[in-house]
Amino acid sequence: EKGGHDYFMLKEIAEQPRAVAETLLGRIGTDGRLSLDEMRLTDDELRDIDKIIIVACGTAYHAGLIAKYAIEHWTQLPCEVELASEFRYRDPILTRSTLVIAISQSGETMDTLMAVRHAREQRASVLGICNVNGSTIPRECDGVLYTHAGPEIAVASTKAFLTQLVAVYLIALYLAQVRGTKWGDEVFAMIQLLGTMPQKVEQVLETVEPVRELARSLAGERCVLFLGRHVGFPVALEGALKLKELAYMHAEGFAAGELKHGPIALIEQNLPVVVIVPSRARPILHDKIVSNIQEIRARGARTIVIAEDGDDAVVPYADTLIRVPAVPTLLQPLVATVPLQVFACELATARGHDVDQPRNLAKSVTVE
Ligand code: M6R
Repeated sequence: EKGGHDYFMLKEIAEQPRAVAETLLGRIGTDGRLSLDEMRLTDDELRDIDKIIIVACGTAYHAGLIAKYAIEHWTQLPCEVELASEFRYRDPILTRSTLVIAISQSGETMDTLMAVRHAREQRASVLGICNVNGSTIPRECDGVLYTHAGPEIAVASTKAFLTQLVAVYLIALYLAQVRGTKWGDEVFAMIQLLGTMPQKVEQVLETVEPVRELARSLAGERCVLFLGRHVGFPVALEGALKLKELAYMHAEGFAAGELKHGPIALIEQNLPVVVIVPSRARPILHDKIVSNIQEIRARGARTIVIAEDGDDAVVPYADTLIRVPAVPTLLQPLVATVPLQVFACELATARGHDVDQPRNLAKSVTVE
């Protein structure tokens, strides 16, 4: 049942190219346009939206943070992202033209379900992004876009996360398509590029062996930091969450721009710091993070750099360099997250932990 793998988590990591492909299947038309009528929200309803709020927990929340960049860029609609557990304990401003998007693999997470109910009581439209067919959250939402990751057994979410990203990109691009946007050509090109992502994820998996070696060599460490910028910031949070959950290590993700506002004080000799480098297509972001790598390395950090193929600027400052295929910045989380999943899984295994059943955690958190 584990398909020849030692753990479900390894099987699910390996299944990601297929999960991404399945989630795209039938949603990109032969004319290159998206069709998502299955969401049960009409084009008129989508045109009336003036604000989007995303609610989710854990890894699904990280997918939401990435969604914000994609939605605001492609649709020019304001988008907020909130932990579901915080959302209903404040007084969120919701109207009939607010679209609330609830992201949940299981569709049973109590915090997210309560946020959905709260939003519907205030008359907002609620769209679910869920993986489990017929689960509670999609039943209570106005519309749903299913991810087609297949059953995810391991407690740590991997393939569900990648398919949640695909779902939010699809929704952002579909909204742009329906509403019209100044990025018309880019939207069209992105839809085509999304179709190539299963191969890119496969490419990462084929070249990930050095990440395993690296992880084993770090099994005795006490702490790992993760730095990212723009969409690389939620990727850093996700890398840290995986390591906490599985290896029971202190792991923190930071926005690279925040370094000087505090976290740089943590840097000491040999501290492993993973840095997610944005695509060179955004030179402003890219060059800033290269400076950050220099700054932390000058203070003794052991730098583990995730950068796209062909990015030579990072080479002199990377103690370990992990390559990912070059893709547009907004889509980069689909490739940059995979080495971090492998890293956490291997490091935890090297420490002797069962990655499918981490201590104190349940696959689906059905209490608040
Ligand atoms: O089923 P959900 O997507 O609603 O679950 C949300 C979180 O509980 C979940 O992502 C959790 O953080 C995972 N263990 C992360 O690996």
